[in-house]
Amino acid sequence: MKLILLGAPGAGKGTVAKMLTELDGSVQISTGDILRGAVQAGTELGKQAEAYMKAGDLVPDELIMGIMEKRLQEPDCEKGFLLDGFPRTIPQAEALKELLDRLGIKLDMAVNIDVPREVILDRLTTRRTCSNPECQAIYNVKSNPPKVEGVCDKCGSPVVQREDETEEAISHRLETYQEKTAPLVDFYDKEGLLLTVQATSSEAVIDAIKQKLAG
Ligand code: AP5
Repeated sequence: MKLILLGAPGAGKGTVAKMLTELDGSVQISTGDILRGAVQAGTELGKQAEAYMKAGDLVPDELIMGIMEKRLQEPDCEKGFLLDGFPRTIPQAEALKELLDRLGIKLDMAVNIDVPREVILDRLTTRRTCSNPECQAIYNVKSNPPKVEGVCDKCGSPVVQREDETEEAISHRLETYQEKTAPLVDFYDKEGLLLTVQATSSEAVIDAIKQKLAG
């Protein structure tokens, strides 16, 4: 499947994407994970992205499009891909449309995961993430804690709170989402690709996607 996952920070895009990869071998492409990996590795990309991310601002569109243009042409995307956290602005959505047209790739849908704000705030303050850039498994101290506190079930690396999970950065990320990313819901509606799912259960989101793909 070839999907875009839209939704506010904490809506569960990463969690749903990881579950969907198990269905048909589609790959999860999370621009957030790619950027965090680059920051941790101290690459040029990481150095350019770090301050924006820490503050909860978006990284410039040119940097993101540079990453995605290459990533979408890697062989593992042939089976399908789940775009998690991309596109995030109208210019990114327009550039993606042009890129996919050029590559002859057709999207199945853009899924808007719509979760109430109070649920989001609770999830973001209780999320924990594996610190291994190759893993970045997602946990939650309330709903999905690792079996051994502070240790990733999958790779044994320390599980930590992300640097953009201070109260100030979370509130700025939510404002940035409303201003820059929420308009994409209309964009994909006009493209005839939108599926909005109002659900706090990831299984309900997966079921709605399966139904739409079958339908
Ligand atoms: P990114 O990593 O994409 O962060 P985000 O969009 O803010 O999304 P999150 O990862 O916070 O949330 P999520 O929706 O994936 O939720 P999750 O599944 O983890 O981006 C980080 C930064 O990178 C940006 O601020 C920006 O600076 C930069 N960036 C990235 N992409 C960019 C782009 N395209 N352009 C420009 N800049 C970009 O779930 C959250 C928590 O809830 C977890 O603890 C999880 O366990 C729990 N949870 C999830 N689902 C459920 C459920 N159903 N029930 C109970 N708990 C649940």
